[in-house]
Amino acid sequence: SEVTVNGEVVGLAGTEPWMNALDFLRARGLTGAKEGCAEGECGACAVMVARPDDAGGTRWAAVNSCLLPAGSLAGQEVVTAEGLGTPESLHPVQHEMAVRGGSQCGYCTPGFVCSMAAEYYRADSDGFDLEAISGNLCRCTGYRPISDAAHALGRPSPDDPVATRMRGPAPAAGASRVEGATGAYVRPADLAEALLLLEQHPDAVLVAGSTDWGVDVNLRGARTPLVIGIDRLAELRGLTRGPDHLELGAALSLSDLERGLAGSVPLLTAVFPQFASPLIRNGATVGGNLATGSPIGDLAPALLALDASVVLHGPDGDRLVPLDRYFTGYRRSVRRAGELIRAVRIPLPLSEVAAFYKVSKRRFDDISSVAVGVALQVEDGVVHRARIGVGGIAATPVRATATESALEGRPWTAETAMAAGAVLREEGTPIDDHRASAAYRRATLATMLVRLHADGAAPASEGVGG
Ligand code: FES
Ligand code: FES
Repeated sequence: SEVTVNGEVVGLAGTEPWMNALDFLRARGLTGAKEGCAEGECGACAVMVARPDDAGGTRWAAVNSCLLPAGSLAGQEVVTAEGLGTPESLHPVQHEMAVRGGSQCGYCTPGFVCSMAAEYYRADSDGFDLEAISGNLCRCTGYRPISDAAHALGRPSPDDPVATRMRGPAPAAGASRVEGATGAYVRPADLAEALLLLEQHPDAVLVAGSTDWGVDVNLRGARTPLVIGIDRLAELRGLTRGPDHLELGAALSLSDLERGLAGSVPLLTAVFPQFASPLIRNGATVGGNLATGSPIGDLAPALLALDASVVLHGPDGDRLVPLDRYFTGYRRSVRRAGELIRAVRIPLPLSEVAAFYKVSKRRFDDISSVAVGVALQVEDGVVHRARIGVGGIAATPVRATATESALEGRPWTAETAMAAGAVLREEGTPIDDHRASAAYRRATLATMLVRLHADGAAPASEGVGG
């Protein structure tokens, strides 16, 4: 197996299944990308990978190479900061960063350059969106020179080689196997082969984006003889709208989903900007986020409020499990050995009053202390149906059923919101930890429904970080 890096074909043979793309690239002399945190929070390791766009061409997606298994690069194309320009011939992004003082110690710079370049090449760009660099941290410059550099960028010239490449199709992601001394990273040809591999190797690690397992590998030394990469399986990447439900393929990344839904599920539209960073959202998948079962994953509270179900697929085909019955304990679920998450279903029509509130210390790129998804069906001023999903108050994401009961059948007024907020405050058993005290979590919960009511007909859903 091989990967094309900055236009050159590089062999992957001998790569261990747990080795990340960052170490792989650095071992080949491409030391621009750096390891800052090794857990997806700093962006020093960002590189660009070629992904299919929706029109048969290619788009460049910036990702955290510290979390990306090198084995997943088989047959793929990568561009690093070294491939964009050279000291003698800087890329426009590198030039603007240099002349505007956007690089001081330089540690973060190649990562910033890759995130910025991916945004520079975005086909539907209507000006540089600074959120593109919300997953990149800089200790030195104070960000203003970096945003100056971003805003000084024009559009790529027609003969720009990286832009030209976008007109051709993205590399296919067919079956591949990258073998190291201790094991292999396998990308199955299709869903049937993935199930077969799972049956033959029940202890294999399934990854779909690897933004969680990558952290286990880097910080906790997780190792395994077999990794099965399912994030490119076509059967897991559909996005379909039936008469009574939406089906989201489990291997769609959060970015794929944001583009594909195009604002049609307002509750999810509110989640996307607050879900980690663009670098993570380009890798992290819907199925992966549910499969890891984190009690503070940001998607589950929203999907619980949307009354979503998980489509599990195993040797006997599909089985549908309501999401509120999917989690059974801390990082545990009803998913059986040999099954994988194929899709998530959201029933239609959607409730018209919906909001997502995330409490975290920072506005972007942070972990929730508490996250709440709310969907209310209000008819003639009365709450007919309430669904509330909450993360951060129990060992799993949970539905706040007592609060739902306190809302249903009541007029949607400030008094109802206040009374239901008092119930929400007492749901679950939040813990004290370094992110927030239990008392703080309860206090913020109490205010959320009041906020939702105050936000009125067009609820603004936003983070509460400082
Ligand atoms: Fe910090 Fe990868 S090293 S995000
Ligand atoms: Fe030093 Fe950004 S220039 S960390």
